[in-house]
Amino acid sequence: MNKMLAQLSPTITNMIRADHTHVLAAFHQYEIDTSPGTKQALVNTICLALEIHAQLEEEIFYPALRELGDVPEVVAKSVPEHDEMRRLIGRLRDLEPDDAGYDATLMELMRDVLHHVADEETVLLPDAERRLADRLSELGATMTKRRLELIGPKLGDITWNTVRALPASTVLMGAGAVAVAGLLFMSFKPRLARGDWASPACSAGGKRPAKPDRLERHVPSPPC
Ligand SMILES: [Fe+2]
Repeated sequence: MNKMLAQLSPTITNMIRADHTHVLAAFHQYEIDTSPGTKQALVNTICLALEIHAQLEEEIFYPALRELGDVPEVVAKSVPEHDEMRRLIGRLRDLEPDDAGYDATLMELMRDVLHHVADEETVLLPDAERRLADRLSELGATMTKRRLELIGPKLGDITWNTVRALPASTVLMGAGAVAVAGLLFMSFKPRLARGDWASPACSAGGKRPAKPDRLERHVPSPPC
């Protein structure tokens, strides 16, 4: 691996913290009266993020700690804890969001996750930052590479679940932005069709026309 890239990478410990934050942020959007479709999208996001996180820790982070010889207790119990998380993820995927046990199973999963996050962020990560200090960025780069491999085949699902979980206000804002962009494009299109590539400032000998039409005032001038 390119040594300079490895040095520029975020550290593995900060990546692990960011994964935890991502999962907790999705969980904090989940409310009991959330619509079934949004619940399912949030649960799909949480489950996939946890699966990838657990695999990355097991393949890259824990082995690096084990190489140091003295295996921390948190590492020793993390793998069975990950297996329990996988069991609950499997159960959630067998349920529909309006099934009786759906909310309770997610809450059980998140209790385990919160316990895992507390153990790692208060014990394991500070310990790793002391003992793996000169390898943290290199391991971060290895984790990024492996993460991209794991995410690649799931990219469609991740995008779809992210869109489904967005609050309605965000979707409306996005739709509004698309509409404004469409209006701007339509106002610019006749000039493109005429081959009138020059900006008003260029075609007027460096002087902008005195009264541009209403929409043109919002169109950035292309370079001369
Ligand atoms: Fe973790």
